Amino acid sequence: MYPDMQSRSSALYRRALAVMPGGNSRHTVYFPPYPIYAQRGDGCRIWDADGVERIDCINNYSALIHGHCHPQIVAALREQAGRLLSVSLPTEAEIRLAELLVERMPGIEQIRFANSGTEGVMFAVMAARAYTGRNKIAKVEGAYHGSYDSMEVSLYPTPDAWGPDEAPHGVAPAGVHAGATANTVVLPANNVEAARNILRAHAQDLAGVVLDPMVKNLGYLQLTPEFLQMVRDETRAVGALLIFDEVYSFRLGYHGAQGELGINPDLTAMGKVIGGGMPIGALGGSRELMEQLFDPREGSRMSHTGTFNANPMSMVAGVAAMELYDRAAHDRLAGLGERLRDGLRDVLKITGRPGTVTGAASMVGLFHTELPMGDYRAMLKTIMAEPRIMQQAEAFFQRMLNEGVYLARQGFMVLSTAMCESDVDFIIDKSEKCLRAISAEAA
Ligand SMILES: Cc1ncc(COP(=O)(O)O)c(C=O)c1O
Repeated sequence: MYPDMQSRSSALYRRALAVMPGGNSRHTVYFPPYPIYAQRGDGCRIWDADGVERIDCINNYSALIHGHCHPQIVAALREQAGRLLSVSLPTEAEIRLAELLVERMPGIEQIRFANSGTEGVMFAVMAARAYTGRNKIAKVEGAYHGSYDSMEVSLYPTPDAWGPDEAPHGVAPAGVHAGATANTVVLPANNVEAARNILRAHAQDLAGVVLDPMVKNLGYLQLTPEFLQMVRDETRAVGALLIFDEVYSFRLGYHGAQGELGINPDLTAMGKVIGGGMPIGALGGSRELMEQLFDPREGSRMSHTGTFNANPMSMVAGVAAMELYDRAAHDRLAGLGERLRDGLRDVLKITGRPGTVTGAASMVGLFHTELPMGDYRAMLKTIMAEPRIMQQAEAFFQRMLNEGVYLARQGFMVLSTAMCESDVDFIIDKSEKCLRAISAEAA
């Protein structure tokens, strides 16, 4: 049973506390009173340091699209590890992964690799500045685009600082360069009129707009086609670049979110899934744009280096993962997502618990309220008005852990191709059991 202060995970956490602040190197993997420590994974299952088996519904926040230790990915890594770990020369695997992604993503004719989604977005932002000679970058309030100064502006602003609904203030979290707010323009999600006015007001200085078509940290909030089209039109009109952050929302369609939504961005940042479980980031766009910015033969406008860029281990894992993730695999996985969303909606009905199911394709959210989630402000107001929502989320998370299901504390899940229908049904059954127990406890 979790928590158990006699467990090996608990002991490991006490050891970690001595040498790391809060015993932790990654805030998202901490949960109180102690995180469970991972021992090994196989397919859609993970085993913790105490030998407890669980189904992994987070898949390293989406990166492990084929689950743990897929034999083809492991074989590619084994073979590569015996030949070359990293090297200050290009390798053939880098070309193959680039070919696979160029073939697949409508807005990408050429691509470059980096080491994380954060870097992919960061280089996209720098590229937009280098290309346009302007400074300002717009983003949606509350949207997460990695740990990088200008993209952290207004990540979690509070009502006292966030300004008017139709003209949000940029708010810098602790540690973010104060000047970042001057060059980051904050847009209200899905408010077409207000966002258009803001973009027009900054048109002269606007280098680009970064959008994630489906914002995971806002409960899988989907940007509407009208909003996306408006930003596409406005950026074109003022000569700014539209940047899609598909680090996460690549899962939306076989050709990524852009293929699914029929909008071609100028630049696309990628990461997670495309590395087959190894660290990766990427930035792609049209040949003309990418060559102008980065072609070393032409004295590129921008510097783009990195000791581990396109390192062969990430490249071969990425190639194996992308070859496995063909259209049939994508469609089957999206079907599992649909089955889970339908099942969870039924569970909410049967148990009478308040809740909303969100997401698309292999991304599934379960939020413990029927109140509107909507954009960042609506979501925060809802959560502040009803502390019960977070309490139920926490209770659900802990109960699911004890039923053998590991999902994100905030209530979202990301599926893997290692799952089959019976795994999804297991998650649905356990959700019902946990929600019934929460009901019984509340009565
Ligand atoms: C939409 C989005 N952009 C960027 C990132 C940053 O990627 P990484 O954690 O690989 O730096 C993430 C990570 O969760 C993400 O979800």
